[in-house]
Amino acid sequence: MGELRLVELSASTIVAVNNMSLKPGQEQYLAPVSYGIAATVVNPQTTWQRVVVDGDEVVGFVSANFDPDEPQEHFQSVLWRINVDADDQGRGVGRFAVAQLLEEARRREMHRVNVIYEAGEGGPELFFERVGFTPVGETEYGEVIAEIRL
Ligand SMILES: CC(C)(COP(=O)(O)OP(=O)(O)OC[C@H]1O[C@@H](n2cnc3c(N)ncnc32)[C@H](O)[C@@H]1OP(=O)(O)O)[C@@H](O)C(=O)NCCC(=O)NCCS
Repeated sequence: MGELRLVELSASTIVAVNNMSLKPGQEQYLAPVSYGIAATVVNPQTTWQRVVVDGDEVVGFVSANFDPDEPQEHFQSVLWRINVDADDQGRGVGRFAVAQLLEEARRREMHRVNVIYEAGEGGPELFFERVGFTPVGETEYGEVIAEIRL
């Protein structure tokens, strides 16, 4: 693996991001119901999104919402989406993306980062636990709310 970097979403990276592949069975975990509902009220100005590149190659995408005024606490500082291209999974790209997201949250003086995910076979639960998230609750749709305290 070369040196991983974060770059902004741009005309040249957006196509590669949209073409990233998933492993079979992962599609269902990409967007928990709670995110779909919250997305209709999220202010685009509070969204942070970055592309992970390895040399010239797009290998991942990570986005978050940082909004201290958001009424639902677990959406104030929240990992919104993370995905790593199927061929590049399992070699530290996701861990790198989360570390960068935590740095961004610290820069914005957030005290924690939450994530909401669906537990289940083939899902991201073990990944989120390995990179430091601890389950702290459940949404009304039965998804896990987890957090990292900063
Ligand atoms: C979840 C995802 C982002 C993980 O990215 P990744 O680059 O493969 O993860 P990493 O290689 O950085 O792994 C970090 C740690 O998590 C562990 N891990 C990752 N996926 C795992 C899995 N499916 N089961 C068990 N452990 C896992 C790794 O072993 C590693 O542990 P270690 O560093 O302590 O040895 C990636 O699998 C993915 O894109 N999944 C599909 C999309 C998705 O579900 N996104 C989450 C909801 S938005």
